[in-house]
Amino acid sequence: MSMSNNLLKGKKGIIFGALDEKSIAWKTAVRCHEEGAQLVLSNAPVALRMGEINKLAEQCNAPVIGADVTNMDDLKNLFEKSMEHFGGKIDFVLHSIGMSLNVRKGKHYTEMNYEWNQKTLDISAMSLHRVLRTAWDLDALNEWGSVVALTYIAAQRVFPDYNEMADAKALLESVARSFGYHYGVKKKVRVNTVSQSPTRTTAGSGVKGFDGFINYAEAMSPLGNATGEDCANYCVTLFSDLTRYVTMQNLFHDGGFSFTGVTAGVIDKMG
Ligand SMILES: NC(=O)c1ccc[n+]([C@@H]2O[C@H](COP(=O)([O-])OP(=O)(O)OC[C@H]3O[C@@H](n4cnc5c(N)ncnc54)[C@H](O)[C@@H]3O)[C@@H](O)[C@H]2O)c1
Repeated sequence: MSMSNNLLKGKKGIIFGALDEKSIAWKTAVRCHEEGAQLVLSNAPVALRMGEINKLAEQCNAPVIGADVTNMDDLKNLFEKSMEHFGGKIDFVLHSIGMSLNVRKGKHYTEMNYEWNQKTLDISAMSLHRVLRTAWDLDALNEWGSVVALTYIAAQRVFPDYNEMADAKALLESVARSFGYHYGVKKKVRVNTVSQSPTRTTAGSGVKGFDGFINYAEAMSPLGNATGEDCANYCVTLFSDLTRYVTMQNLFHDGGFSFTGVTAGVIDKMG
C-alpha cells in the first residue's frame, strides 16, 4: 500500500487492456487497487491466453473476464458479470485499447487496406462507443461515474508513422465528447480522453521508428515524457471525486509537449 490516499475507497471499476507489466492499464489497475478500488480486469481472449494478466489479478484481488471489445455480446456479459461480482453498479471504466492492422502489416498510410482500416477503427475507437452503449443499455454506471480512454496527440498534429491510428484517435476523442454529452445529461457520467506521452509498451513499440519518436518527445517536453506510472496516477484522479466537473475533455498528459513550439535542447541539436 505505497502512496495510498484512499482516493477510490468504495469505488468499483472495470479496467480494459492490461496485457503485461508495461501496459498503461496494468499500472493503472495497480494504482486503483492501492487507492482502495475494487476491480474487474478485462482483455481480448487472445491476450488472456498469454496468462500474464493472472499475476495482476492476484495482486489486485480481481476477477478476469474476457471480452473482445468489438463484440456486443462479450461486452454485455462483461458488464453483467461485473455488476454481479460487485453486487451493484460500476463507478469507473478505463479504456486502454489500441490496435492497427495496417501498421502491424506494414502498409503505408497512402496504400491502406480499407478492410483492415475498418477493423482498426472498430477496435481502437468505436469500441469506446460500444462500451458506453453497453453500460447505458444496462444502466450499469453510477451517477458521477467516470470513463477514461487513452489517446495520442497524432489526433491533432501529424506524426507520419502513426499512420491510420491518427484517424482512429481523432474518432476516439470525438466519441468521448459526443457520448460524454449524452451520458452527462442522462446520468452525470463523465467521459474524457487522456493524451499520453510516447511510452514503451507493446502497442507503443509497434509504431515505426519508436526510439526516435520517444527521444524527440523527451527533448521537446519541458518536463520530459510522462511515464506510464504517472499516467496511472492521473487516471486515478479522474476516477476520483476530486474531478467531478471534468467531462468531454481531451486532457494532455505529456510533460508540456503539446504546447511547446521548440526547446533549447532541440535547437542545440539543430545548430
Ligand atoms: N504506448 C504509447 O506510446 C501510448 C501513447 C499514447 C496513448 N497510448 C494508448 O494507450 C492505450 C494502451 O496501450 P499501451 O501502450 O498500454 O499498450 P498495450 O499493448 O499494453 O495495450 C493495448 C491493449 O489493447 C488490447 N486489445 C487489442 N485488441 C483488443 C480487442 N479486440 N478487444 C479487447 N482488447 C484489445 C490488447 O490486448 C492490449 O492489452 C492504447 O489506446 C494506446 O493507443 C499509448
